[in-house]
Amino acid sequence: MEIILKDVSFAYQIAGQQLPVLHNIELKVAPGDLLAITGAGGSGKSTLGQLLAGLLEPTAGKVYLNGIPCQARGRSKGVSLWQRVGMVYQQPEQQLFAETVFDDVAFGPRNLGLSLPTIKDRVERALQAVGLNPAEIGQRSPFNLSGGQQRRVAIAGVLAMEPEVLILDEPTAGLDPAGRAQILSYIRSFFQQRDKAAVLISHNMAEVAGLANQVIVLYQGRIALKGTPREIFQQGESLRAYRLLPPELPRLMLELRRLGAPVSTDVLTLAEARSAILKWLRGEASGF
Ligand SMILES: Nc1ncnc2c1ncn2[C@@H]1O[C@H](COP(=O)(O)OP(=O)(O)OP(=O)(O)O)[C@@H](O)[C@H]1O
Ligand SMILES: [Mg+2]
Repeated sequence: MEIILKDVSFAYQIAGQQLPVLHNIELKVAPGDLLAITGAGGSGKSTLGQLLAGLLEPTAGKVYLNGIPCQARGRSKGVSLWQRVGMVYQQPEQQLFAETVFDDVAFGPRNLGLSLPTIKDRVERALQAVGLNPAEIGQRSPFNLSGGQQRRVAIAGVLAMEPEVLILDEPTAGLDPAGRAQILSYIRSFFQQRDKAAVLISHNMAEVAGLANQVIVLYQGRIALKGTPREIFQQGESLRAYRLLPPELPRLMLELRRLGAPVSTDVLTLAEARSAILKWLRGEASGF
């Protein structure tokens, strides 16, 4: 499944007034991609996520699914390509509603009219995919779980629809470091499957750096930067102009450079930072 946005703009309608939020967005998400959408608060990330998921319709421009121009979900008739795109909203646990975890995760597959054994199988696999044991947790009320567990149940509800593109809006916000790491590892194992893609909306630069293979930075509703994490995070000054801070390691290297140390700033991981600093200390870094 490939999603293409061509010259897409979007405005909310409030009391008859237009509030323009996104301008002339060009974007492509294809299998194998993990696209990160970053940007300061209010830059339009969630709105863009909802356009990519077909939950909002562009005010101008077009969305193509596998090359076919598509209307948003509500407007498209019959079996829609949008079924193959799943969206996990910002704070998805607020949308849990059923009496048991099983019923909550089964809601989507039931709506697809699948047989009971298939539904059961999908629910179990979705819960396992987010590290929850269906036998232990399936019959519990989702409301008595911890925040991190609730988040995982909500993600399982979308996974149970077996989407080919998974869009997650700030999936780790408000979780402790262990909870964050778990969610990120589930996202990684999702998009590494054949024919899958994921879109991670996040203003946490460190998690974007570690996971994404493409990054866009939104600023006031426009794509201000686009590239690989390496390309983006070396641009410390532009990121600041867009009200973002590079992740800590590139920031440390930029700071060392500013202080006169000839270290590489092309650093995303701890191992790379270590080797760049060692090179400098051993006097091997004179090429910079
Ligand atoms: N349902 C809505 N109706 C009207 N305006 C909205 C609506 N949702 C968002 N907006 C406005 O659109 C702009 C972009 O909002 P959006 O939620 O897409 O930003 P964001 O980058 O996701 O922000 P955050 O980092 O705070 O989640 C903001 O000015 C916001 O006030
Ligand atoms: Mg948002």
